[in-house]
Amino acid sequence: MIFYFTGTGNSLAAAKKLLVKGEQLIDMAQARREGTYRFSVPEGERVGFVYPEYCGSVGATVRDFAEHLQLEHAGYVYAVVTCGGKRSISAGYFKRLLKKRGIPLHNAFFVRMPDNCVILLAPPSDAEKAALLDSVNGQILKIRQAIVHRESAPVPTRISDGMMQKCYLLMNRTKRFWVRDNCIHCGMCEKNCPSQAIRMEDGKPVWVKPQCDLCTACINRCPVQAIEYGTKTTDRARYVNPILK
Ligand SMILES: Cc1cc2nc3c(=O)[nH]c(=O)nc-3n(C[C@H](O)[C@H](O)[C@H](O)COP(=O)(O)O)c2cc1C
Ligand code: SF4
Ligand code: SF4
Repeated sequence: MIFYFTGTGNSLAAAKKLLVKGEQLIDMAQARREGTYRFSVPEGERVGFVYPEYCGSVGATVRDFAEHLQLEHAGYVYAVVTCGGKRSISAGYFKRLLKKRGIPLHNAFFVRMPDNCVILLAPPSDAEKAALLDSVNGQILKIRQAIVHRESAPVPTRISDGMMQKCYLLMNRTKRFWVRDNCIHCGMCEKNCPSQAIRMEDGKPVWVKPQCDLCTACINRCPVQAIEYGTKTTDRARYVNPILK
């Protein structure tokens, strides 16, 4: 069984590449919406969590899901973190969340993919994007080998784990979103929002929650680039993993 969370498709693409025949793929955002937190796998089965790194920590949905999860019979538990940087540091915090639910984390890996954080930096150029996406198969192949052999490795926690989550919680506010006049009223932003933070009102999106996952799906997946965040996104390109195109 693999649980995943995605905003712009990287983690979904990674999860799909890790999936073996017959294995279930579960969207943590959908499970959370439905209030489904209880899962059981056949005795000793592998269970994976694939999610994006946010500010060196985990996003709101992943955190909430891990805090409520009831998981029975898992024999080997691993995390695969997708990130835009050269390393990932959030797995230790995730391990702490799972531990509180009595779930061990036997290993954690990361996959470097194009950075989708257009609210902070410009996405990689087309050439960089292509090179990174090309490297994903190789990165996943190595991880898959380790998972198949149920390799364990210490997942280090850090003193800064709690602080990184606090930084994320300072950032993930919705008050800076705004909509350009070129909005075509398609409602895709409402549909794609994993936090249910967007509602269409009079044909335009309105952010109805003070905080969200800050997954950037609304910004990056709007078909006409009508969604902006403060002033920094206005002249930036957008990024969506090909799996969602
Ligand atoms: C709010 C936010 C914060 C991010 N913080 C980090 C980070 O601390 N380190 C990093 O390597 N990548 C960071 N990223 C980049 C994403 O982790 C990366 O692009 C990820 O693969 C996106 O996954 P998705 O397409 O499944 O949503 C951040 C992205 C967002 C939107
Ligand atoms: S996805 Fe973009 S075009 Fe569609 S309703 Fe939202 S803002 Fe408007
Ligand atoms: S409002 Fe936008 S950035 Fe926030 S969770 Fe929804 S889709 Fe993601």
